Amino acid sequence: MDERKLSQVAKQMIVSGKGLIAADESAGTCQKRFDAVGVPCTEENRRAYRQTLLMAPGIEEYVSGVILHDETIRQETSDGESFAAVLEKKGILSGIKVDAGTKDLALHPDEKVTEGLDGLRERLVEYKTLGAQFAKWRAVITIGKDMPSGACIHANAHALARYAALCQEIDIVPIIEPEVLIDGEHSIEQCYEASAAVLKKTFDELAGQDVALGGVILKASMVIAGKKAAKQSSIEEVATQTIKVLKESVPANLAGIVFLSGGQGDEQATENLNAMNKSGKLPWPLSFSYSRAIQNPVLKLWAENPSANMGSAQAALLFRSKMNSLASQGKYSSEMEKTRPY
Ligand code: G3H
Repeated sequence: MDERKLSQVAKQMIVSGKGLIAADESAGTCQKRFDAVGVPCTEENRRAYRQTLLMAPGIEEYVSGVILHDETIRQETSDGESFAAVLEKKGILSGIKVDAGTKDLALHPDEKVTEGLDGLRERLVEYKTLGAQFAKWRAVITIGKDMPSGACIHANAHALARYAALCQEIDIVPIIEPEVLIDGEHSIEQCYEASAAVLKKTFDELAGQDVALGGVILKASMVIAGKKAAKQSSIEEVATQTIKVLKESVPANLAGIVFLSGGQGDEQATENLNAMNKSGKLPWPLSFSYSRAIQNPVLKLWAENPSANMGSAQAALLFRSKMNSLASQGKYSSEMEKTRPY
């Protein structure tokens, strides 16, 4: 493990004013997103859509890295260039989703454990040759009656730490993503409790595997009431509670934190990130790693007419990336939405 190299890549991922685009949706998730906009989810359509994303002129101003799927890192643009090479030319880092998805956790109905450690060392070696400089592993935590269980938290935190150690062994920066789902009726207080328990256990496990935190990025979910909760959370509540849980649970020597959007509205995800960054000095940079909250308008436009709308889809991508870049510096205002090009 080359700690200096890891820390250098992690710093580049979280450099001021930039964030990550998550474009690593599995075939199943892609199917859902494409179905919603009436586009057949073929390999060629996924490639063409992602080409629209990755080749958007100027995204390098706001985006430091893109998380790719196994399929995409092996694909090429219509001109025959690998996507990783296209990103490298723009100075954007390529990342790769390496977990194998979730399975039911034994003896714990309704809870999940993320799999994918078998053969991971060999897969990482190959991804590195394909151009990946960072990786992502997502664990899923559900809030509900007697959930999350200690068993679910432990199993997922341990897997995250084992994955992170394997990444660092070959100088790939691990993004660790313990996502507390927004689905459900839970209150913001319940989300706080679950997030605190998950984060503490995850950092205990990382320490247990001797993972170097200067070369790790946390992809966190915000502390927020469930989508179906009677009382929805305000921007101020989300910002205050998220910062509180992070300060209490995340070591100050971690390289940085990026957020997932998790089903929040596009502007809501931007507003919440902005509020956190306006709240004063923090031990780590906070930025974005959104999929839906950046891609929603892009996919819609592209699906209407992939060739005629390519420019407007890319303009939408650029706009949401810019808004989130400003939010990562606490410089966003909802007034700016009036200038959006879609
Ligand atoms: O792993 C989750 C994705 O990378 C983030 O997706 O912003 O739509 O929650 P999202």
